[in-house]
Amino acid sequence: MKLAVFGGAGLAGTATVRLALERGHHVRALVRGPGTLEGAEVVRGDALDPDAVAATVAGADAVVSSLGGYRGPGSIDAGTRTIAAAMRAGGPDRLVVLQGFHIDFPGDPHNPGRRLVEAFLSVRCRPLLGHGQALGELLRQTSDLSWTLVRVPLIADGPASGWARLGVFALGPWSSVRVGDVAETLVRLAEDGTRVREAPMLYTPRRGR
Ligand SMILES: NC(=O)c1ccc[n+]([C@@H]2O[C@H](COP(=O)([O-])OP(=O)(O)OC[C@H]3O[C@@H](n4cnc5c(N)ncnc54)[C@H](OP(=O)(O)O)[C@@H]3O)[C@@H](O)[C@H]2O)c1
Repeated sequence: MKLAVFGGAGLAGTATVRLALERGHHVRALVRGPGTLEGAEVVRGDALDPDAVAATVAGADAVVSSLGGYRGPGSIDAGTRTIAAAMRAGGPDRLVVLQGFHIDFPGDPHNPGRRLVEAFLSVRCRPLLGHGQALGELLRQTSDLSWTLVRVPLIADGPASGWARLGVFALGPWSSVRVGDVAETLVRLAEDGTRVREAPMLYTPRRGR
């Protein structure tokens, strides 16, 4: 399939692009820095620029976004809004987005570990918290695209485990997910189109189960 990727030069994005290429997909990635992504078609530009985003999603079958907010938290929600607009204007229908598990969705547990993460974020990077919640709100109001929001704890090194879990969990600051599991899940969801308009959490249990 033809995959459009946003955030492809980042931690999760690099692994996602690599895996998608290994699986034989064509990858077109929007990159705003000077870096290259071997094997992928690179569009130079910013995710807040509608023209660059439209050029990235044109002809794609699905979009994966792991846009980050460390160098400007507005990319998390405003970037996704720009992507969604380009998809509506003739792009694909399928959107898979990666973000933190702290983004609130109905039915979430509000366990102490989660409250600890929220407290940490509100002290250390409050704007990320607000823009993350705005992303959640944006997606909840998006009924005309087949989106999935994958919500993760700390992303750690490591290949796909084979035992990552996708669902709703009581995660905390001690939880993590292998970057290989993130890539595997994002590519698989783009391929199989499941979990539409859902926001499952993804993590890698420490010892296999
Ligand atoms: N890493 C973790 O432990 C973790 C845990 C929970 C949630 N998350 C969230 O999951 C997402 C992916 O994480 P990550 O660790 O892969 O993030 P990352 O390494 O910071 O990668 C994010 C990528 O998005 C790109 N980007 C951001 N704004 C952009 C814009 N306006 N136009 C074009 N590109 C833009 C960045 O480009 P530049 O390289 O040019 O800045 C970067 O390549 C992030 O939203 C992060 O907050 C991460």
